[in-house]
Amino acid sequence: MAYKNFELTPKKTEKIETKYRKIVTEIPVEESLPLLKDLRKYEPISMSGQPLIVWDNASGFTITDPYGNKWIDFSSGVLVANAGHLPPEMKSGLISQIESGMIHSYCFPNEPRAKLVKKLVEIAPRGMDKVFLLTTGAEATENAIKLAKTWGRHIGGDDKDIIVTFEGSFHGRTMGAQLAGGSKPLKEWIGKLDPTFVQVPFPDGYFFTDTDFSVFTDTLDKLGVDDRRVAGVMMEAYQGGIAGFYPDDYVKSLREWCDKNGALLIDDEVQAGFGRSGKLFSIDHYGVIPDIICIGKGMGGGLPISAVMGNSKFMDLYGPGEMTSTHSGNPLTCTASLVSIEILEKKNLVENSRKLGEILDSELKKIQKKHPHRIGAINGRGLLKAVMFTEGVTENGKKKPDHSLAFSVVEKCIQKGVMLYAPLGPGGGTVKMNPPLMIEEEALFEGLFVFAEAVEESLSEIDIVK
Ligand SMILES: Cc1ncc(COP(=O)(O)O)c(C=O)c1O
Repeated sequence: MAYKNFELTPKKTEKIETKYRKIVTEIPVEESLPLLKDLRKYEPISMSGQPLIVWDNASGFTITDPYGNKWIDFSSGVLVANAGHLPPEMKSGLISQIESGMIHSYCFPNEPRAKLVKKLVEIAPRGMDKVFLLTTGAEATENAIKLAKTWGRHIGGDDKDIIVTFEGSFHGRTMGAQLAGGSKPLKEWIGKLDPTFVQVPFPDGYFFTDTDFSVFTDTLDKLGVDDRRVAGVMMEAYQGGIAGFYPDDYVKSLREWCDKNGALLIDDEVQAGFGRSGKLFSIDHYGVIPDIICIGKGMGGGLPISAVMGNSKFMDLYGPGEMTSTHSGNPLTCTASLVSIEILEKKNLVENSRKLGEILDSELKKIQKKHPHRIGAINGRGLLKAVMFTEGVTENGKKKPDHSLAFSVVEKCIQKGVMLYAPLGPGGGTVKMNPPLMIEEEALFEGLFVFAEAVEESLSEIDIVK
């Protein structure tokens, strides 16, 4: 399904000025059109799709453009700025790293890299004693798939090569990551489906109502998969597109199933880690220890760094020089990550995420209560929420996502000074909210008030059209 795109035509806005927000121009801003048109002209169309705001400065939990407008950030720049946008400690840490005269060192040793891998092992769940640093989330999930397949061959021979993932999941956009991820149409675009990538329904309890673990095993049976051939099961700690968590028992059963069948349990925390859902790692909600964890996004506070963490049993399968990357352990990105983790710890931001997440949840549920037929669910934990807009229940009893309504709500929030990214999830009906974990309560309430206004206005416009 093709989603709506933001138009390059300036639309009128109401002038706004509060402590946290300022809107003084039409949106998109007339002056920004040449830049926006260049991007449409010189980049693939796939790179468009986000609200047409030129980001000029991002600090703490606010974002400004070069034309005098200011937004409360409910996006964290797609979940990277967990510790806030460019905190002063990060700025000074990066500057002093640059001033030291060393901004890259390939796989030659450097101090920030040594400090970071040690720190990550200290904070990682039990059993993770090695860290392989990379640059993007997709590289981390690709690497985890490779390790699981290598491990599978190591213990079970050539045929232990199947990777199981969940329908609707997202693991990145490189080849292997996209084969593992859950969007069938996108996978089919690449060519014939690879039979060693197999998917089972995600137990969201919303689109797919049977959340019992037997669905996992029954689906593998139906697909003719021999359990002993499974090398790894990769799960997002929560499903990103809808901020959907698994039932706790489901993940416990999955852990047992993996143990029984000699499959690695891979936890993709690229989006979910570093306090986003009110725990340092979202897998901690289930009381389960995975074999491999992929991290990224919030790990670098906005700079590109990711990693795969696991036990040396799996992590040492490749010999010296056989599993490396040009930018692995870059001293600048490692410094950004070290500072980000330090801020999360010092400022107690994981707890702040949990506490403010409860407020966000109860306020969004008040909005849902007013419109139960148009908001099907509020998902998420901590400062991670997904509002699931729906056209209502269809004949087959399923809730049909309402992309137009979700799109209108995002567009209005942008026009009113609250930064959100474009709707996503199945049918594009989900609006996600994930502010930096250091957002102040007052700003959170102000953003919520704007969101509620945007919902009311969007619904009344839709009613008028009908
Ligand atoms: C769960 C998950 N895995 C992997 C990725 C891919 O990360 P990247 O875009 O850095 O390649 C993402 C990105 O959104 C993600 O949410």
